Amino acid sequence: MSTPDLTQTPISANGSFEVHLQKSGQTLKVGKEQSILSALQDAGHEVPFSCSQGVCGTCLTQVIAGTPDHWDMFLTPEEQATNTQMLICCSRSQTARLVLDL
Ligand code: FES
Repeated sequence: MSTPDLTQTPISANGSFEVHLQKSGQTLKVGKEQSILSALQDAGHEVPFSCSQGVCGTCLTQVIAGTPDHWDMFLTPEEQATNTQMLICCSRSQTARLVLDL
């Protein structure tokens, strides 16, 4: 039996999802009330950020797999639609797993 590809699976009903960090090989769980940024900070990662509100663009991160749920006001709708980058201080995930270039 093959393992389901979580980057193609809708986010779970409880609102949590996992983030896999391609460079470090680490996988973090992001809870419903938590941002990706705070999950990274809790795990000891130093990620550049400033506004924490999706405005400044400092936390822009490349997305390798999975589909972000964009909540920022920095990217244009066209940029958001490509799903190749996201603002991790406020945006979340539409899929059970996101793979980020971190
Ligand atoms: Fe400003 Fe994320 S920290 S957009």
